[in-house]
Amino acid sequence: MTRDTIEHTPFPEHFIFGSATSSYQIEGAVNEGGRGSSIWDDFCRVPGAIADGTSGDVACDHVHRYPEDVALLKEMGISSYRFSISWPRIIPDGDGAVSQEGITFYRNLLEELHRQGISPAVTLYHWDLPSALEQQGGWRSRKTAYDFGRYASICFEAFDDLVDYWITLNEPFCTAVLGHLTGDHAPGLTDRGATHRVIHHLNLAHGLAMQAYRSGSYTHKIGTTLNLGVPQPASESEEDRLAADRAADFISRVYLSPVLGEGYPQRYLETYPQYPFPIEEGDLQIIGSHPLDFLGVNYYSEELAIYDETRPEQYRTIRRDLPRTGMGWSIIPEGLVRLLHWISAQTHEMPLIITENGSAWDDVITHGNDGRQEIRDTGRIAYLETHLHSCLQAIDEGIPLIGYYAWSSIDNFEWAHGLAKRFGLIYCDFPTGQRIPKASYYRYRDIVKKRSLS
Ligand code: FCB
Repeated sequence: MTRDTIEHTPFPEHFIFGSATSSYQIEGAVNEGGRGSSIWDDFCRVPGAIADGTSGDVACDHVHRYPEDVALLKEMGISSYRFSISWPRIIPDGDGAVSQEGITFYRNLLEELHRQGISPAVTLYHWDLPSALEQQGGWRSRKTAYDFGRYASICFEAFDDLVDYWITLNEPFCTAVLGHLTGDHAPGLTDRGATHRVIHHLNLAHGLAMQAYRSGSYTHKIGTTLNLGVPQPASESEEDRLAADRAADFISRVYLSPVLGEGYPQRYLETYPQYPFPIEEGDLQIIGSHPLDFLGVNYYSEELAIYDETRPEQYRTIRRDLPRTGMGWSIIPEGLVRLLHWISAQTHEMPLIITENGSAWDDVITHGNDGRQEIRDTGRIAYLETHLHSCLQAIDEGIPLIGYYAWSSIDNFEWAHGLAKRFGLIYCDFPTGQRIPKASYYRYRDIVKKRSLS
């Protein structure tokens, strides 16, 4: 099909249009409702850790404003909303008593979504590990995987009647690599051995949650969300092609392959024999023997890989020299199509869902003729349209893509970048909490209503 024909092709009848957030990024109320501390509360207190010195202490104040937020989602017309549960709101110290107040907050939110006809997609772990577990070794410790399994069981029991899609983990790559190798995210370590332990324990945690779900009498869908990536080779040379494939081991295969029951890529394990993955007997069985109902894919950009003989892994990745978003991330909608083909060659018929895709821009508030505040975020609209176009193309090419969640419903706390990077379809004025739908919000509403880009 040509570009133009795709433009006029409707999205499939049951295609899910949604938008997404996560707990620490929007909730605020960090000391309320019996919530325990998380590693992000701690990390935000480390001088220099957050670019603009802010934190998620208040963020969008969503805990107090969730009815207004759900009303805005309803008005946007989306059929599903993806959010995450804060582990320390449910189990303040991570492995002890359950907080009834935490359960009540999320049941209220879920009920509100149902009242408004919005189907909830719930992530169990979007990076806010209870601080008390970090003090016991965090994800470097095998115990945390089992604590996660217990926390997941508690959530299934408390909320499954109201949840349509469960997502075990969000982007384990970021927890492992940004949290333990580059030190950009909580808990801020720079230790390759720790990174490998974390990768395996996250995979095990996913497997234990899957096991708990499948052995209970639950009937909804469960999967995981990975930020998979396959860099393009920097040149046609054999070395660069191999570099790109090796990059896929570390970015993608160490998460995807074990979950699909194929174990770890041997080539990567052999790259760092001094830092073994702490695999115990039966682990790969736990991780790989519970088929996913769907795979969540987060996509923002695509990198290049170049051969680098000075490194054990023999490659390094570089940014492509193309127009960029406010994050400095290159805009490459066609990379999404390539990635979906790469994934589905391994997952076959398994439904795929884009669980995050979006862009940050320096939004400016202007005033319309009637004096109303407006945000004309044309860059975000173009990003949204071109990536939805890629979704249509992928579907046309036979990919079982069943949904798309825009990141993000509302501007929020963008981790190490603080409150400065705005990804929302809704503007949040952080000092007052005022919400202002942006032009992209109205454009998305239009697309969702027409189920087409035309
Ligand atoms: C993803 C995260 C999400 C958000 C976007 C911009 O890696 O899952 O929380 O920060 O990036």
